[in-house]
Amino acid sequence: MALVDSKEMFRKAYEGKYAIGAFNINNMEIVQGILRGAAACNSAVILQTSKSALNYAGPGCLHAMVKAIIDETGVDAALHLDHGPDLETVKVCIENGFTSVMFDGSHFEYEENVAKTKEVVEYAHAHGVVVEAELGKLEGVEDEVKVESGHGSYTDPDQAVDFVTRTGVDSLAVAIGTSHGAYKFAGEAKLDFDRLAVITQKLEQAGFKQYPIVLHGASSVDPAVIELCNKYGAQLKGAKGIPNEMLRKAASMAVCKINMDTDIRLTMTGAIRQAFAENPEKFDPRGYLGAARTMIQELVEAKIKNVLGSENSMN
Ligand code: G3H
Ligand code: 13P
Ligand code: ZN
Repeated sequence: MALVDSKEMFRKAYEGKYAIGAFNINNMEIVQGILRGAAACNSAVILQTSKSALNYAGPGCLHAMVKAIIDETGVDAALHLDHGPDLETVKVCIENGFTSVMFDGSHFEYEENVAKTKEVVEYAHAHGVVVEAELGKLEGVEDEVKVESGHGSYTDPDQAVDFVTRTGVDSLAVAIGTSHGAYKFAGEAKLDFDRLAVITQKLEQAGFKQYPIVLHGASSVDPAVIELCNKYGAQLKGAKGIPNEMLRKAASMAVCKINMDTDIRLTMTGAIRQAFAENPEKFDPRGYLGAARTMIQELVEAKIKNVLGSENSMN
């Protein structure tokens, strides 16, 4: 039980053909819900914070909270910077005890992405911290960056090999059709699994055996949760996520980390809306935040058992 990095988690996940869930955190109830869910499944987990989550809660507060709740729940968890925009943010996180960082240079020209990622890798590795980077562009909104529909681009397998070789990055987020947010597909859900297989094959041929791939934008956007939100006043029309079978398939391939934020947000919103609607006379925040925390725990347990396959990964 400890605050650890993701190296050993990914090694076991690759061999066991499952993935570790990486859930975004912003406050205490979310951290507790996730870690309690992971503890109930004896599963390792990754807690990640975006730049805007750092601005919202503060890196020291997030780290202290995560550390305390890890100690209470007995879970092996990594604390990860999600979509780090620059070296400065990476340094702040490392100074505050994060065990893993992502530098997201996917919106830069290729050579600039290589150079900036390499700089982050050198700094992070010198401080004993692992690095995730991204190649290819996902559509959707993340932090301050919005990639319009039709302006994403899938990861090129040859470029992926060149990128990993030149940067020394520990894991790679790829674009194969997922996108951030609650509106991922207008029509049929489709992921480019052939591309994922070729990326892995080329990495192996280049000497990167069992190289961990990361899937961003991987919330499944459960229709039942959308229905719950809408029943109590939300207006979420046309929301659609990644089908669970596709996530299972990705986890059985080289994908070792599956990122989910939207599912946590939707679950929390549904739970709080329901609590408000059903108990209009109540005004104790522990009531509705506690209900959200319980529903997040249930969500995480279901993800671990039915989607990620990481149950008992702490053995
Ligand atoms: O991929 C991005 C995450 O969903 C974080 O979003 O910047 O609103 O915290 P946020
Ligand atoms: P979702 O919006 O699908 O939850 O993706 C979250 C994510 O990729 C965080 O980095
Ligand atoms: Zn992401």
